[in-house]
Amino acid sequence: MQRISDILPLREQRRKWQIDGKVIGFVPTMGNLHQGHLQLVKEAKKVCDVVVVSIFVNPMQFGPSEDLDAYPRTLEQDSQYLEELGVDCLFTPRAKDIYARGLEQQTFVEVPGISYMICGASRPGHFRGVATIVCKLFNMVQPNHAFFGEKDFQQLQVIKAMVQDLSMNLKIHGVPTVREADGLAMSSRNGYLTESERKVAPILYQSMLKLSEQIVAGRRDFRKLINEHSLTLYNSGFKTDYIEIRSADTLLQPGHEDTELVILAAAFLGKTRLIDNIPVSLE
Ligand code: PAF
Repeated sequence: MQRISDILPLREQRRKWQIDGKVIGFVPTMGNLHQGHLQLVKEAKKVCDVVVVSIFVNPMQFGPSEDLDAYPRTLEQDSQYLEELGVDCLFTPRAKDIYARGLEQQTFVEVPGISYMICGASRPGHFRGVATIVCKLFNMVQPNHAFFGEKDFQQLQVIKAMVQDLSMNLKIHGVPTVREADGLAMSSRNGYLTESERKVAPILYQSMLKLSEQIVAGRRDFRKLINEHSLTLYNSGFKTDYIEIRSADTLLQPGHEDTELVILAAAFLGKTRLIDNIPVSLE
């Protein structure tokens, strides 16, 4: 596996792959890799001849009250996992090259509407930071395919909208959430949980499953259902940021005609903000 930090050698390598007719897959990450990320790599390897993984902890997607410095950096361990999976190139750009004119001056990409709701309402500017870095990384790697976890469902929708709106020439793949044996969605943030919080954490997924069963069984009093589940979570030690039942396509409030819904939730356990989502099909 090659390790590249500079953009010029990355472009040179990319040019060689193109001459050789290789299909290029890309998995952007912020590192601290777990099975969820590794699943993205495995999916990329199924579809592509060569796979590039980036690790860049993107300051632009962290809010002022979110601790960028505390984000876990585990580059050597990450690199070993990727090597074992047969990744072709690990791209680790530096912040000073990515944001050469400084964050304040940085041209940005913003996907209106979808970026402002749900997680975007709780984390203003977050999806602008995500869309901007993903656009920049796409320009550097120029992949044919890129892979993102469905765990970050809204992020995936924002990226799909950006690719469509800006006529980007690549295919975006959503990869199903990988869960621990007890149902907790894998996430780098799980590492922040204390031992006792970790035991409680799967209740979020259990509560969402129960909510989806209630909807499939015919309940349509969504506001009441959401209040009931927020209370259950509160009684288990969570502070709910949101529970939303939305159209899976648009992330808007579902109408009577919508048959594919998604339940999205974010809740704090202590200082850790967990997010999860599950699809609900009414067909
Ligand atoms: O999902 C993530 O890890 C990040 O938001 C991403 C897509 C790598 C952009 O920094």
